[in-house]
Amino acid sequence: MANNTENNLISMLTLSEKAALQTGKDCWHTADVERLKISSVTVADGPIGLRKERNGNTVPAVCFPSMAKLACGFDPTLMTKVGAALGEQCRAEGVNILLAPGVNIKRNPRCGRNFEYLSEDPLLTADLANAYIAGIHSQGVGVCVKHFAANSQEYGRMVCDSVVDDRALREIYLNAFERIVKKSRPEMVMCSYNKLNGEYCSQHKWLLTDVLRNEWGFGGLVVSDWCAVDDRAKGIAAGLDLEMPKGDASVVEQAVNNGKLEEAQLDVAVERVLELEKQYREVSPRTVDLNAQRVLARQASAECTVLVKNNCKLLPLSKTDKIAVFGTLADKPVYQGDGSAHVNAFESDSLLEALKTANIQFTFAQGYGSSDETDESLLEEARRAALNCDKAIVVVGDKPDCEGWDRTRWTLPPSQLALIDAVTSCNSNVVIVLQSGSSVDVSFVHSAKAMLIDYYGGECSGQAIFDVLFGDVSPSGRLAETWYAYLPKYDAKFSQDYARALYNESIFVGYRYTAAANVPVAFPFGYGLGYGDIEWNNPTISSKDAKDKSKITVGITLRNTGNRAECEVVQVYATNVDSRLFHEKKRLVGFVKVKLKAGEKKTVDVVVPTSELAYYDVNKSCFTVNGGRYIFTIGKDSADDKYQLEYEVKGDNDTVDLSDKLPCYYAVDDDFDPSNEEFLALYGKELAERSATVHISTPLNDIGKSLTAKIFTQLITRNMSPEGKRNTLAAPLRSLVSDNLSKEMLYTIIDMLNGDVIKNLFKLYKQYINCRKTKKLKEKSKKEGD
Ligand code: BGC
Repeated sequence: MANNTENNLISMLTLSEKAALQTGKDCWHTADVERLKISSVTVADGPIGLRKERNGNTVPAVCFPSMAKLACGFDPTLMTKVGAALGEQCRAEGVNILLAPGVNIKRNPRCGRNFEYLSEDPLLTADLANAYIAGIHSQGVGVCVKHFAANSQEYGRMVCDSVVDDRALREIYLNAFERIVKKSRPEMVMCSYNKLNGEYCSQHKWLLTDVLRNEWGFGGLVVSDWCAVDDRAKGIAAGLDLEMPKGDASVVEQAVNNGKLEEAQLDVAVERVLELEKQYREVSPRTVDLNAQRVLARQASAECTVLVKNNCKLLPLSKTDKIAVFGTLADKPVYQGDGSAHVNAFESDSLLEALKTANIQFTFAQGYGSSDETDESLLEEARRAALNCDKAIVVVGDKPDCEGWDRTRWTLPPSQLALIDAVTSCNSNVVIVLQSGSSVDVSFVHSAKAMLIDYYGGECSGQAIFDVLFGDVSPSGRLAETWYAYLPKYDAKFSQDYARALYNESIFVGYRYTAAANVPVAFPFGYGLGYGDIEWNNPTISSKDAKDKSKITVGITLRNTGNRAECEVVQVYATNVDSRLFHEKKRLVGFVKVKLKAGEKKTVDVVVPTSELAYYDVNKSCFTVNGGRYIFTIGKDSADDKYQLEYEVKGDNDTVDLSDKLPCYYAVDDDFDPSNEEFLALYGKELAERSATVHISTPLNDIGKSLTAKIFTQLITRNMSPEGKRNTLAAPLRSLVSDNLSKEMLYTIIDMLNGDVIKNLFKLYKQYINCRKTKKLKEKSKKEGD
């Protein structure tokens, strides 16, 4: 709530000033009011390096590994260090709020933004995000947790309705947000583009006010994703305080004047903007220690690399081995994804450069070109090099993933598969290094002795992979997402419908699905090897303090039997065997990363609050912990069942048995693919109707078949690639406004699409002429400015 100062300020503001404050000043600043000394708050993108724009260019910043890779560290301490480095970057550039972290759950490996997100598991996501936020906060910089909520696909992202049942929503998709809001008290939460259960998140009162503020106690500011606003007045009433970037303030003024929005509701939004502004009024700049940042970027990337196979201890390599390197990506790595998270990196390196710097002798064969097609002459050259070396390093990976685009395939390009085939058929000592935004089909792994998953390794990725390949660092990454052997059947529906995404699989996401269905995976969630050997012994479980029944302690004794320091990640999973409600067979309830010196022995305790066992009771609308028998698995990954311990939680077990009504959720197996009807029985609500009238948020696909619709669609999508066209057809009309299509023209076209063609033709023509004039003036003044 606002204090007196804000109340005083509010009373001094005119309605149009208030309306101006609830939207941005431009792309990266909140509005200011000079006469009242209200200044702007500056925001900029992250999450792995600052993306601050200055004079139309992005200022350089150290680019850390992608969030997908950092998550593999399972290491909150490392996340705090990276967060602090990003905070430092912000302070140096006068940025008050970093638009990060993105904490959406990876529902599907083909989502185009997975590289920006942490994990498929909410506990891991939240623990790592909280640590990262602590680092940013330590520098006096604020955070903006995004994208709230259930934003799991890029196709149709600005119109798509994510339809999620209450349990999956609470246990999976809202869960990480809840933990972060409660623990880290973020300054901002960014609502997502999509709809959730029938309503745009940017105007979803239940989401933004009832849950976020009233239930979880969020006290910060809710901002829209960039251009995510459908109905601004409705958004303000629902709890969306700030629209970004600059919107049309007069719409809000009018809404107040004509009674559609109460001024008091606008005041609440404005108060929150003022509260934020007050926090960042006086921030002194700090300098960035570039060297220290690059050392950290290299260390983080090396440590978070995941060693998934190492037969005959092929790795680490020796610096005197006769080495050949294959693949263009060894020279020009994909070290980050594209879109708003793209960093103008200071100096990116490569594996080839790292080898040269270390004076390692090697040969190099390119292996594949930039196209997907195999190139026989490059393959022939690769075969010759493979026959002529002791150890072969093959670097592969697809084009960078990009915001706005889901992947259309889950496999590597044929040209790269052919290279793996060529090299492994000529040499038996092959290590594959895979650069990828998220999981891909790795069925080729059987042909190589070793494989490292690099994800996107940041600007020091070359040095980092070098450190791992030659054993300067023992990799201690663990996969923060499932690497499937084959995609779940339910995956076939992913990213097919731009208008509606039914989350039919409910809570069975990632390892929750593979463990329940008992299907083989390529590499399970939580999996990763090191170079040494660690013995596990003596698992224990207790509620240590007999009086404190709110915590369960799961212990294990580790001994490093090797001759080098190693890290291990102890993971604890739980399941309630007595529950009559459908449930997962494994749920991560705690983890600890441990460092062990050579020969060292340690007993590790993982403390699990009983609240981690809770499921969401849809009848009581709250989380509940059932009494009954639980199986706790303490292991190296989600598929490691060596140590299982039973534990009785006192209390009543649930009586809800839905097995007759929802049999498919009780029999999760290889064929698990709930139909829409089965899902709707679980969902229990009506699906929202789609409006027949064309409005600003109607996707181009849905504007009808009239002549106006055909001409307009043709004009917008001409010269586009099939993929570009598919995405544009799934975008709302409001997102098409550009220098060639003014807002006024768009509104007239919408009237025409709704039937008023003749009377609007001349109006459109006049608006078109005006639009061209404005464009020319803009171009002229830009030229003069240059
Ligand atoms: C993205 C956000 C980003 C914003 C500003 C949007 O397109 O979804 O994640 O923070 O742009 O760049």
